[in-house]
Amino acid sequence: MSDVPAPFRVGLLGHGTVGSAVAGLLPDRADSIAHVTGLRPEISGILTRSRGSFDEILAGSDLIVEVMGGTDVAHDHVTRAIRAGKHVVTANKQLLAEHGEELWALAREHGVQLRFEAAVAGVVPVIRVLQESLTGQHIDRLHGIVNGTTNFILTQMAATGASYADALAEAQRLGYAEADPSDDVSGKDAAAKMAILARLAFDTPVHLSDVPYEGIEHLTAEDIEYARDLDLSLRLIGTAERIGDELAVRVHPAFLYRGHPLAAVEGSFNAVTIESPSITEITLSGPGAGGPQTATAVIGDVISAMIPPAQTPPTRNTLGFVDDVVSSFYLHVDVADRPGVLAQIAQVLGLQGVSIKSVVQKGTGNGARLVLVVHPVLESRFFGAVQMIGSKDFVTAPPRAIRVIDEEFTA
Ligand SMILES: NC(=O)c1ccc[n+]([C@@H]2O[C@H](COP(=O)([O-])OP(=O)(O)OC[C@H]3O[C@@H](n4cnc5c(N)ncnc54)[C@H](OP(=O)(O)O)[C@@H]3O)[C@@H](O)[C@H]2O)c1
Repeated sequence: MSDVPAPFRVGLLGHGTVGSAVAGLLPDRADSIAHVTGLRPEISGILTRSRGSFDEILAGSDLIVEVMGGTDVAHDHVTRAIRAGKHVVTANKQLLAEHGEELWALAREHGVQLRFEAAVAGVVPVIRVLQESLTGQHIDRLHGIVNGTTNFILTQMAATGASYADALAEAQRLGYAEADPSDDVSGKDAAAKMAILARLAFDTPVHLSDVPYEGIEHLTAEDIEYARDLDLSLRLIGTAERIGDELAVRVHPAFLYRGHPLAAVEGSFNAVTIESPSITEITLSGPGAGGPQTATAVIGDVISAMIPPAQTPPTRNTLGFVDDVVSSFYLHVDVADRPGVLAQIAQVLGLQGVSIKSVVQKGTGNGARLVLVVHPVLESRFFGAVQMIGSKDFVTAPPRAIRVIDEEFTA
């Protein structure tokens, strides 16, 4: 019998940032992987827009790595690979947030693995923890900083006082933001990742369309300055939580109290906190993107597919989604500087059941600016009050509201 390990053929769809890093790293690690698995991985073919044939790569591979991006051709190729009985590893969050249920069901039907660690938080092993370490665990809530581009921009604004536009330009110059950053800054990328995390944490189908999202484009250096005054950090936060028998999954900018584990996550790093009664809370953090980092997560999945598997379980629940959730808010209102204005704002808030935690008033030349932090309240009631305040004749600019996350702070 030969001691030479049998080949394990990996077909690579995509040879961009992630694909070229996979192609570079896999040969370097092939010997040690063969030592562990008894199989030696090798790249059996590479597909780009100008190179390779998908049919030939499919026929000549044991496993397909999809790092093309997009949801049309990627969906077709992943579907065909699964139907052909090949394991699939993908880094494509949009594909899974839109077609995950169908693809996971197809993979179960065909007895193959569909692995996707790199689709959320890059090399941070959050999928593995949810899918394997915490299987069967009752999870109450996840919070995540799952988009490195927006976290870089917000921490840059805080560190340097830069405007949103300047911080975005710096992120693009350093390669943390793409030429077209829309999916990142709008919160859509984070929403896709939160859909995947919520699917695993709550064992229920969650589609991208179930996740309302709000981006960071409208944030200003002043918002960050107020955050500093109130000892808060401003982050783009994804939340997935169980509320009674329902779920709320959403993405929006939020202020975090300094003691919150996510408040310390700086630059392009990602982090996810998982809250569950028996584990209290765990936080996982690390690089959320980058060629070698993401390729490392992809290769980890390839190895897992070579060794006997952990499957994504079939969905058990079909939980509904909450329309209205309770949040704390920071509210800033520019007003004409005249007597009784604060009392009128307090009255509107009081009528809507919104209770004020703190108020700071600052002069702004001709007018005044009121910065309020309010106790937790149903969002519909709060926004009703904001709309009423915005229509008052003494209000000189649309009021600005940002959520505040932290029980300690808001209690
Ligand atoms: N970049 C990261 O740090 C990162 C992190 C986590 C997850 N991801 C995910 O990983 C995936 C790939 O990202 P990336 O940054 O590596 O993208 P990229 O640099 O744009 O590379 C995409 C590659 O796929 C090929 N491709 C795209 N559409 C194709 C098509 N229709 N037919 C054939 N080939 C096609 C491109 O071919 P050409 O070379 O011919 O254009 C290119 O080689 C995406 O789903 C992304 O969300 C990326």
